Amino acid sequence: MTNSAIEGNILVTGAAGMLGSQVLLAAPDGVAVIGTDLVEAPGVKAHGVDLSDPQAVKTLFAEHGPFAGIIHTAAYTAVDKAEEEPELAMKVNGTVCGVLAEAAKEAGIPLVIVGTDFVFNGKASEPYTEDFEPDPISVYGETKYQGEVLAFAAHPEGTRIVRTQWLYGPRGKHFPATMLALAKERDHLKVVSDQRGSPTSTLELAPALWDVLQKGEAGVYHAACEGDCSWFDLASATLELSGVEGVTIEPCSTDAFPRPAPRPEYSVLSCKRLEALRGAPLAHWRDALSTYLGN
Ligand SMILES: NC(=O)c1ccc[n+]([C@@H]2O[C@H](COP(=O)([O-])OP(=O)(O)OC[C@H]3O[C@@H](n4cnc5c(N)ncnc54)[C@H](OP(=O)(O)O)[C@@H]3O)[C@@H](O)[C@H]2O)c1
Repeated sequence: MTNSAIEGNILVTGAAGMLGSQVLLAAPDGVAVIGTDLVEAPGVKAHGVDLSDPQAVKTLFAEHGPFAGIIHTAAYTAVDKAEEEPELAMKVNGTVCGVLAEAAKEAGIPLVIVGTDFVFNGKASEPYTEDFEPDPISVYGETKYQGEVLAFAAHPEGTRIVRTQWLYGPRGKHFPATMLALAKERDHLKVVSDQRGSPTSTLELAPALWDVLQKGEAGVYHAACEGDCSWFDLASATLELSGVEGVTIEPCSTDAFPRPAPRPEYSVLSCKRLEALRGAPLAHWRDALSTYLGN
């Protein structure tokens, strides 16, 4: 099911979230978008719909459909809290994907679901390809993986999973913003240096999601900015590119900040499939960070 031109409304879930809000802004010219989120948010065109209520999803389709495609960014994203609320996390990250995929199948439309590097165990030593066997080590990772499984089972020919990682962007809470806020309060920061991944700007990812919807075949895509680094490297680059002076950053191990949910140690994604689809990779993480910071 390939969709080279979009005619009709596209449903974007999570429209008030960090990524979904950028997906709305990146909609191709002339494409009509219907945004939804758990609650209506100020400044964002999003209808309030609890996607974990199947009746609410039916009403959404009846009142705002027919849709020509779906980009599903909504999720239960509280990685640590998910360890205490596995049922709720499974309902939102797992079951909802199955429900949306069934609705997409019935309508005969493509569905892009945003996935995560947390489906892997982080024990690899080279970038994860799309066909590497998932082995999540946290409740969040497991529920996101179940969402993939349920969507493919319901709508194999229309489902595209786009796994990404280490997101930041103009809206929402994220690591670079936290570092900049901390740097205003302290002159010394300790940051984990033994986890590796690719910081990915929503400004880079959002247009890629539209391309996967319009031009991609069904299947799994990895989508992250080029290059990889540690959180320590990302914190150092954020302060450097923002011109912050007088703050030292000390590298430390993951053990220094124990968290309820384990984090994958090595989380680098091989994004060759997306690169082949778009003819170019996403920008290097440092360049994308510089752009985001307004340089
Ligand atoms: N952030 C990252 O680093 C990262 C990395 C890899 C993958 N991802 C994936 O990327 C996607 C977007 O992440 P994000 O960081 O932009 O997340 P986000 O800012 O938390 O946005 C997700 C949105 O989904 C909404 N939502 C939660 N439960 C819902 C429900 N039952 N019905 C409808 N909407 C609901 C949330 O509303 P509330 O805020 O009101 O709960 C929130 O506005 C997610 O699929 C996430 O798993 C993120």
